Amino acid sequence: MQVSVIGLGYVGSVTAGALARNGHSVLGVDEDGEKVAMYRSGKVPIFEPGLRELIDDAVAHQRLSFFHTSEVTDFLGDLIVIAVGTPPTETGAANLSYVRSAINWVTTKQAHGIILMKSTVPPGTGVRISGNLLRGSGLEYVSNPEFLREGQAIADWFHPNRIIVGSECQEAVQVVKDLYQGIDAPYVITDVTTAEMIKYASNAFLATKISFINEIANLSDKVGAIIDDVSYGMSLDPRIGPSFLKAGVGYGGSCFPKDVRALDNLALTNDHNFEVLRAVVTVNNRQRLLPLFLLRQRFGSLTGVKVGVLGLAFKPGTDDVRDAPAVDLINCLVVEEAAVKAFDPQAVLPSEMKMLGKVQLTDSLLDCVDGTQALVLMTEWPEIVEANWAEIAQRVMPPKYLIDGRNALDPQQMFLHGFSYCGIGRRARGSMKNHVVGECPKAK
Ligand code: UGA
Repeated sequence: MQVSVIGLGYVGSVTAGALARNGHSVLGVDEDGEKVAMYRSGKVPIFEPGLRELIDDAVAHQRLSFFHTSEVTDFLGDLIVIAVGTPPTETGAANLSYVRSAINWVTTKQAHGIILMKSTVPPGTGVRISGNLLRGSGLEYVSNPEFLREGQAIADWFHPNRIIVGSECQEAVQVVKDLYQGIDAPYVITDVTTAEMIKYASNAFLATKISFINEIANLSDKVGAIIDDVSYGMSLDPRIGPSFLKAGVGYGGSCFPKDVRALDNLALTNDHNFEVLRAVVTVNNRQRLLPLFLLRQRFGSLTGVKVGVLGLAFKPGTDDVRDAPAVDLINCLVVEEAAVKAFDPQAVLPSEMKMLGKVQLTDSLLDCVDGTQALVLMTEWPEIVEANWAEIAQRVMPPKYLIDGRNALDPQQMFLHGFSYCGIGRRARGSMKNHVVGECPKAK
């Protein structure tokens, strides 16, 4: 099948490479000339494990080529995947201008085929697009939300746990099934608005799980329970399950924060007060600043306090710092005039932060920790979690305060290395022998 993918970000580039691997003939299209030039010269502008190889292989087999929008003159394909961004507007609503302009552009190119919407758009959008932009065009609109996790996007693409198809046109549904031929997953065939809601409800539910467990962790700190055991104990109930019960400094990234806010905005504009969702956002906004409150408690004024921030990306396995808790934390630390160093194995500081010139991004973990008084682990990269913590401890100065914002380190080990360790929901003393975390006598 000839397919075009419009928008070569995370979703679009993975989709383009994977569809080509599945034997389709794929045009990758973007309006960013620099991005297209990079793909053409064999470079992949984002860090996603396996993506480079996937794209190289597709290009080598002549099943994938890249075009700037201005270069596309003829037929885009039997199926056109829309994978452009839907960033938040000031109100939290999804900005649909890129989606609309992509669809308008497609209608100037061809008058038949299927538009497969992979961009995350609020429920109701597809029906409006079909009724307005596509009316009389001969193009069929199908919603096909994606559930790719950054860092695992390729595995998720080839082994999805479901394929959602929002369309009431049986022919179109069959074309989508042909597109995914060879991929083994249950299909949910439904109408467009329901398909759109499945995507938002899934992300919002996972975000709710995270904020819920974070609140349980915060309360555990107050009453002396140990969150690791609470999560584990809960997870054994198959109705609850083990995933997304890891307490920490909250969720980030380009999806959860944006989608939760957009769903809340959708609720508001439909005269529906989605109170649970509001609470999810409030908890998450506060959670990412917990390390700041802990540092203030420990040091009083943060002026001149030397802090090392370990991890910038919103989670390990990606270089993505969009809405990353670490970025918010660093901004606050800079305002309070702490001396901040930061390290991430893949990510770099967002450009507006570099301009501040007040954060030193180091090339190595050891350089980052050297001479600091406090460390804050914000992203649980294996390179950080499995580092030589005995050596790290030697380079950190008293009070050797270590905030483990992802509960990724062994509290006992850290204590033995001389750190004054503080996790999230793990701070209680003496309540369970495996988790006893005390003040480091040496650090006092
Ligand atoms: C998320 C969804 O998991 C995908 O299914 C979806 O397709 C994607 O958004 C999207 O809408 O495009 P992603 O943003 O890559 O994927 O990130 P996740 O792996 O879901 O993690 C999100 C955040 O939650 C991270 O900051 C992570 O650190 C945090 N998290 C996750 C926790 O704090 N605790 C947990 O137990 C799990």
